[in-house]
Amino acid sequence: MTERAPLSARRAGPLKGRVRVPGDKSISHRALILGALAVGKCNISGLLEGDDVLNTAKAVVALGAAANRHGDGEWEVRGVGVGGFAEPARSLDFGNSGTGCRLMLGAVAGCPITAIFDGDASLRRRPMRRVLEPLQRIGARANSAEDGRLPVTLTGADDPIPIVFEPPVPSAQLKSAVLLAGLSAPGQTVVIEREATRDHTEKMLAYFGAAVRVEPNGDFGRGRRVTLDGQPELVPQAIVVPADPSSAAFPLVAAIITAGSDIMLDGVMMNPLRIGLLTTLGEMGASIERIDTRTEGGEEVADLRVRSGVLRGVDVPASRAPAMIDEYPILAVAASFAEGETRMRGLKELRVKESDRLAATAAMLRINGVEVEIEGDDLVVRGRGRAPGGGVVATHMDHRIAMAGLVMGLSSEQPVSVDDAGFIATSFPGFGRLMTGLGADFT
Ligand code: S3P
Repeated sequence: MTERAPLSARRAGPLKGRVRVPGDKSISHRALILGALAVGKCNISGLLEGDDVLNTAKAVVALGAAANRHGDGEWEVRGVGVGGFAEPARSLDFGNSGTGCRLMLGAVAGCPITAIFDGDASLRRRPMRRVLEPLQRIGARANSAEDGRLPVTLTGADDPIPIVFEPPVPSAQLKSAVLLAGLSAPGQTVVIEREATRDHTEKMLAYFGAAVRVEPNGDFGRGRRVTLDGQPELVPQAIVVPADPSSAAFPLVAAIITAGSDIMLDGVMMNPLRIGLLTTLGEMGASIERIDTRTEGGEEVADLRVRSGVLRGVDVPASRAPAMIDEYPILAVAASFAEGETRMRGLKELRVKESDRLAATAAMLRINGVEVEIEGDDLVVRGRGRAPGGGVVATHMDHRIAMAGLVMGLSSEQPVSVDDAGFIATSFPGFGRLMTGLGADFT
């Protein structure tokens, strides 16, 4: 258990400057895992070097692949081929990361080996049954702690069976785990999503030469049907990781709510399944300009010019949640500084993130004098264009609650403290430095 690292943020001048946030977390995990399942050498640049991703790198090495760092964000992975993982000598520790753990459960489920999956206290509280059930249908065997939690001992299938899977909740982690296990199965593995979730796994699999078909599914084509032909030979390709929109969200909202601010965020990934926050902030009246939209590493990216401005409350539909599932804590901060009510609908999944993020977000606002309610699965913030601040935010081992709390303190009347900023390093190493470089006052 590491020591707690409290930190406070207070009002200072406007935020100014041009920065690039670290590489996308989702793509970074997938780059390491697919690189490890490909045959030969895969070069990655811009890899996020946060604790979550570094734990995934350690796991692929423990499973027999090589992952070597050659410089800042520059990595080379040597893969062992689909189904080629070796049995690890020790248990695999995924720290705080649900993505690393669930994706690797899928990757290991297609190999005839046994591995123990574990994580920190936060990850040990998160549901794993949702992923173990389809993996058991594929032929893996799993032994978990009570109620399907970690630690989990997983024995991969000797003869993996291709399945048709309809995830009970919209989750890219679930979809990805099944697709990764399906790589080892003969025939077609199909995932039918009622609502589309981030599509990085399917895109990267296709980039590595697998046959993956993606078709619209369901009402208004909001869902997707993903079909993967099993047992491909994955051919490694160079991967350039774009800047993470979920990390960019923090300086972005900070600039919007801090009077006089004008910042540029370089090379932010604009994948449509990741940018629900930009749509929502646009509806609230924020000024976010997309400059030089281009394609990098197979993803659309843009530089974002963000200026401070007045926000109004909005109704955020539940259908948008998959495209901004990690952004609700920081949206709730923006909503606190808006005029009027913001209702964020359909947030049940937030209860099983790194913390019970629905409760933690509401508590963060409340302790800082903002009127907030949880109504069923909705979060309702009654914004007054200002926040009193003065609270100490309980972060519950959750990096996004810690960053959201600190951003709130930049514009609230009294400073805001967070009880532990240590977990920020899981997804956004250098957050404090980047923010103070823009003019934030963190002590
Ligand atoms: C992720 C999927 C999301 C998200 C997480 C990253 C991924 O989780 O919250 O931060 O990379 O697939 P769920 O799939 O559980 O919604």
